[in-house]
Amino acid sequence: MSANARISALTPPDVLARKGGEPLVCLTAYTTPLARIVDRHCDIVLVGDSVGMVLHGLRSTVGVSLDMMIMHGQAVRRGVERALLVVDMPFGSYEESPEQAFRNASRIMAETGCGAVKLEGGETMEKTIRFLTRRGIPVMAHIGLTPQAVNTFGGYKVQGRGDDAFHILRDAETVAEAGAFSVVLEKVTATLADRITTSIPIPTIGIGASRTCDGQILVVDDMLGMFDTFRPKFVKRFAELGEASDAAIAAYAREVRSREFPSDVHIFTDGNKGKTE
Ligand code: KIV
Repeated sequence: MSANARISALTPPDVLARKGGEPLVCLTAYTTPLARIVDRHCDIVLVGDSVGMVLHGLRSTVGVSLDMMIMHGQAVRRGVERALLVVDMPFGSYEESPEQAFRNASRIMAETGCGAVKLEGGETMEKTIRFLTRRGIPVMAHIGLTPQAVNTFGGYKVQGRGDDAFHILRDAETVAEAGAFSVVLEKVTATLADRITTSIPIPTIGIGASRTCDGQILVVDDMLGMFDTFRPKFVKRFAELGEASDAAIAAYAREVRSREFPSDVHIFTDGNKGKTE
């Protein structure tokens, strides 16, 4: 069986069945080595379109292409054994019509071997979510702050204050009714996230939402302290790998300049021809 034909240990119905149970642990990953580590500890590995900002230096996720998502999806697939692998549909690859969404989602699934796709939008995506889920494509929805719409929002602002809360609740009910197996709630007030979590039958996965959500997700480079272009309030740094990397690279530069590196243990003697060291 090829890697692409393999079914993840955790499936979308397993995730759905976790509604109201032990919190779902979710993180993003974009490369094989980090995917291996994330897979050891998490239920869901998301190849988020945040890859554009985190690894490619883009200013927003708007410039991320389908080919980028597929390439990173394939890399992550090689590192995932037991978690559910979800790949983001990038901006412009699904909004036009349910048919366009199906064409691109089926390509993502076939070429990466992921178990589901994620797309942004609530009521506006109702027909698309229904179309995909009825044709064998499990969908994770994403509502609240939807970063692909940053230009419409005018920034990465908290969503769900005032009348806005009603619309986001409607979005949540609509995506659940249309067949999504879970929904990401990004940067919404805790009151609204609590209300949505108790009113819909699918797991809510919070990022800057509430601790009562059915699961939590963070961008892995954020929680490892590797991304410092900006730092949202909802990010907790569980390590400072950016600082550790800076110190390590500075030490390397110092040792190369002073000829301390490479030392005797890092170089090869004449020894036996053909011997592998
Ligand atoms: O792109 C991404 O990483 C995401 C998560 C933040 C949910 O959508």
